[in-house]
Amino acid sequence: MTQEELFKVLVAHCKEYGFIFPSSEIYDGLAAVYDYGQMGVQLKNNIKEYWWEAMTRLNENIVGIDSCIFMHPKTWVASGHVAAFNDPLIDNKDSKKRYRADVLIEDYLAKIEEKMDKEVAKGRKRFGEAFNEEQFRATNPNVLREKAKYDEVHARYKAAEDTNNLAEYKQIILDCGIVDPISGTANWTDVRQFNLMFSTQGSNTGNQDDVLYLRPETAQGIFVEYLNVQKTGRMKIPFGIAQIGKAFRNEIVARQFIFRMKEFEQMEMEFFVKPGTEMEWFAAWKENRMKWHVALGMGAENYRFHDHEKLAHYANAATDIEFNFPFGFKELEGIHSRTDFDLGNHQRLSGKKIQFFDPETGESYVPYCVETSIGVDRMTLAVLSHAYTVEQLENGESRVVMKIPAPLAPIKVAVMPLVKKDGLPEIAQKVVDELKYDFSYQYDEKDSIGKRYRRQDAIGTPFCVTIDHDTVNDGCVTVRDRDTMTQERVKIEDLRDMIAKKVSLANLLRKL
Ligand code: GAP
Repeated sequence: MTQEELFKVLVAHCKEYGFIFPSSEIYDGLAAVYDYGQMGVQLKNNIKEYWWEAMTRLNENIVGIDSCIFMHPKTWVASGHVAAFNDPLIDNKDSKKRYRADVLIEDYLAKIEEKMDKEVAKGRKRFGEAFNEEQFRATNPNVLREKAKYDEVHARYKAAEDTNNLAEYKQIILDCGIVDPISGTANWTDVRQFNLMFSTQGSNTGNQDDVLYLRPETAQGIFVEYLNVQKTGRMKIPFGIAQIGKAFRNEIVARQFIFRMKEFEQMEMEFFVKPGTEMEWFAAWKENRMKWHVALGMGAENYRFHDHEKLAHYANAATDIEFNFPFGFKELEGIHSRTDFDLGNHQRLSGKKIQFFDPETGESYVPYCVETSIGVDRMTLAVLSHAYTVEQLENGESRVVMKIPAPLAPIKVAVMPLVKKDGLPEIAQKVVDELKYDFSYQYDEKDSIGKRYRRQDAIGTPFCVTIDHDTVNDGCVTVRDRDTMTQERVKIEDLRDMIAKKVSLANLLRKL
């Protein structure tokens, strides 16, 4: 199965088992908008709790807030979003569909890379053991022809990007013969910049200028509350403010599932520091955030840093934590050293003094800021795509198991009486009463025990507890482990501690 096919299977699995549904599906859905089902919401809440507790409980100098989606329109002038939060878009006049011009070109380049890879694969097949890929790529005429085409288009594309040359974007699209996948024509409009912010009318005046934006990032809520939090919390630099909340961007995308959505959630933390110390803090937060990811046990090799060479005008350092998604390594989290860009601009536009007075040195300054910013939905996709596993069993059957890190699993334990009689359901109910205050659980008495195990595997439940006829006499139950499928007999009174050891968030936080 190709990675693309595997991704489709994952999307179907997420729907079938109540993780994620296309929004408004009965009306044929809404592009790049998804709803979380009964399993997905619990997974997402667990991810948020892990992040929130790691930030606000493990760091005495980080506090959390919850600011509004609507903010004063000047906020987005100060942040630079009104002027520069744009994508280059192009419309096909025949299909009436809109595309990102840069994505059309990147897809074209990806296809050339694919062609080269196919040639290499053919060469490998032909030469077997003796195959030397480096030499093949340097000498094979087909590869060289494609490489020359790639280099030429890539160079033009990067130059157009650097100079924001929209006419050149269109020329590249025309020169490369890129056509609309729906109409099959190259009947394109000019490329125009479209602002990604959604807007709505602010009040009842009907005044055209009275526009409110749906926030495109949660960070600005933190910056505009900086003074309130610093004063009321008596916070001393360095300190951080964390927030989890919805953000909205009018993304023009196709088939990226919850990787890129129009409505999504962010977990952002702005760490305010003394100017001049920001690089130390940037390095410290890079390490801290990578540790948070790796502690989940999804394989350190599946993460990497991608340091930005070309920096945004407000940043003096930036990196992405990339995750190995089914479609390759892609940005999961951003860490930016944002200097005093945001607080400085809010100070200028609001006319309010936004500074920190250092009682030890007697100086006042606009703090610098190091930001960590991760999408909840993207993190959910990382967990789901890593978890999805198909295993061949000894009896020739296969099972689909979601190996979700146990503390994040939506359901921690399933309780199952072996049969629906002989007093077993009553004992099972007592087991539920013993466990329900500590763990999310499902009670299941339908179908064979094998089928019930499969259902729990498919949603990633770490433990299944079976009550059988021996339980009546010895007070023990069978506990089956999701990942190893091993079973052990455990006394009912020991169940809680045994389960907690593996699923408790506290134990995960202790690793940080
Ligand atoms: N305050 C900085 C900021 O918003 P960003 O790189 O635009 O930076 C940060 O976004 C993170 O938010 C990304 O790393 C990604 O995880 C998530 N994110 C951004 N746009 C998204 C979208 N359209 N859908 C889902 N997640 C998104």
